[in-house]
Amino acid sequence: MSFTETPLKTSKKSWMEEALAEAYQEAKRLAREKKNREANRAKYADFQAKYRDDFAGFVRECISWGKDEGPSDYQEEIAEKISEVDRVSARGPHGLGKTALMAMAVLWFALTRDGTKDKDWKVVTTASAWRQLEKYLWPEIHKWARRLNWEKIGRPPFHRDELLTQKLKLKTGEAFAVASDDPGLIEGAHADEILYIFDESKSVLPATFDAAEGALGTEGAKAIAFSTPGEPSGRFYEIQSRKAGYEDWWVRHVKKDEVIAAGRMTEKWAEARRRQWGEKSSVYLNRVEGKFASADEESVISLALVEKAIERWYEKQDQEYWGDFVTVGVDVARTGQDQTAYALRFGNSIKEIRVTNQEDTMQTSGKTKGIMSRYDGEAIVDTIGIGAGVFDRLREQGLPVVAFTASAKTRFTDMSGEYGFANVRSAAWWNLREMLDDDDLGIALPDIDELIGDLTTPKWRVNSGARISVESKDDIKKRIGRSTNLGDSVIQAFWDGMQATEYGENPLEGYRG
Ligand SMILES: Nc1ncnc2c1ncn2[C@@H]1O[C@H](COP(=O)(O)OP(=O)(O)O)[C@@H](O)[C@H]1O
Ligand SMILES: [Mg+2]
Repeated sequence: MSFTETPLKTSKKSWMEEALAEAYQEAKRLAREKKNREANRAKYADFQAKYRDDFAGFVRECISWGKDEGPSDYQEEIAEKISEVDRVSARGPHGLGKTALMAMAVLWFALTRDGTKDKDWKVVTTASAWRQLEKYLWPEIHKWARRLNWEKIGRPPFHRDELLTQKLKLKTGEAFAVASDDPGLIEGAHADEILYIFDESKSVLPATFDAAEGALGTEGAKAIAFSTPGEPSGRFYEIQSRKAGYEDWWVRHVKKDEVIAAGRMTEKWAEARRRQWGEKSSVYLNRVEGKFASADEESVISLALVEKAIERWYEKQDQEYWGDFVTVGVDVARTGQDQTAYALRFGNSIKEIRVTNQEDTMQTSGKTKGIMSRYDGEAIVDTIGIGAGVFDRLREQGLPVVAFTASAKTRFTDMSGEYGFANVRSAAWWNLREMLDDDDLGIALPDIDELIGDLTTPKWRVNSGARISVESKDDIKKRIGRSTNLGDSVIQAFWDGMQATEYGENPLEGYRG
């Protein structure tokens, strides 16, 4: 490039002009932005004034619903109550949209209260299990935050520094997650306006509810407690059944039919669970009907125990280490319609259960051998009927296989030492019951509907001679129309034959390598 004199002369003036023009444009832009900001501030203030006491309106109007979408009737009804009264509790089937509504409540409370002069706010979210917060509630908060109608709200969408994995931090307050076994943290949370969220609260400790009580008497504090019901005991149950002292809670039972009508559950799913679990079982009543139901007194294993073990299974999955392989429990199909189930036990966890249909002896023993050599461990094979062939085949090959002979005698006793058992089957079922009951063992079980049904089905009684007798496979089949194959494979995986030898003669004809 070369310089000439003429352009220099003329450009001086135009450079000044340009600079002036630019400054003018910049001033205009700033003024426009300021006006926008003010307009937005006014818009956000209008939004806050309009929706502060209208959560249902917020749900309807400030979330971008797709075509044919929107809150269900019962969600709207509950949302209305949340604006009106300070304590709202609802129970109902799995999947009705409880956690989603709570997530929306967190967003509503935060957005309609944030930035208020001289007033701060807090939302404390808690649940029976930490996983509920981590895997369900907070992801729902993120899900519905993505669907907020910011145009309507009048403030910019949440910034990366505002909405974090388990925290929402705005100008004058924050929403966060607290473990429910830490009432101190809940009690320590103070703010001019505070919302307590108790999700899946059926087993939240009374002390945790009480920790919120201090604030709840004051202006501006609210609590929401939702759950699928469980055993008829505990604070959530007392609130839902309107026990004396909890009259200030508004309570709602969302029924199965409402959930089906809202399209959040299908008739088919409900019917399949009814057949699988039995309509009188506590698992069906809790999860499908949304009713409280106590573990059948006669059930060997209660739903609450199974649910705890499933909780641990999910926790283990995050840690990735399951412990060393111990054994595979093989419940061999007795008829063509039955399934063969293989329960793979690592440490005190059933990591997975494999199920096959219509296998012959060779296929089952081949599959069992495959698992044994892959993980270098033993198998416990049910030896009644076809299973005997599988056991023999594996023993012939010199593999460490233990026979599980359900009908054999045993000297094993229950923990109290008071009761003996009618047979090995009874002892083995009781063994898992006692193991599940011991939190230190940390038994973990996979979340399989059929397994939940199987484990909670068998009943027990004490027969003459102080022996505990667990319902036989045949009786169960007569009663519920199917076999508890998955359950039996798990029972076997926890019955490693050692118990029998420790307590006397080994009736299991165990063969170890
Ligand atoms: N009104 C609704 N419209 C669309 N999806 C919804 C609605 N309510 C809930 N959901 C979704 O349905 C699923 C199950 O809801 P969730 O709140 O987890 O049920 P619950 O907590 O009662 O078991 C979630 O993915 C949730 O986002
Ligand atoms: Mg939920």
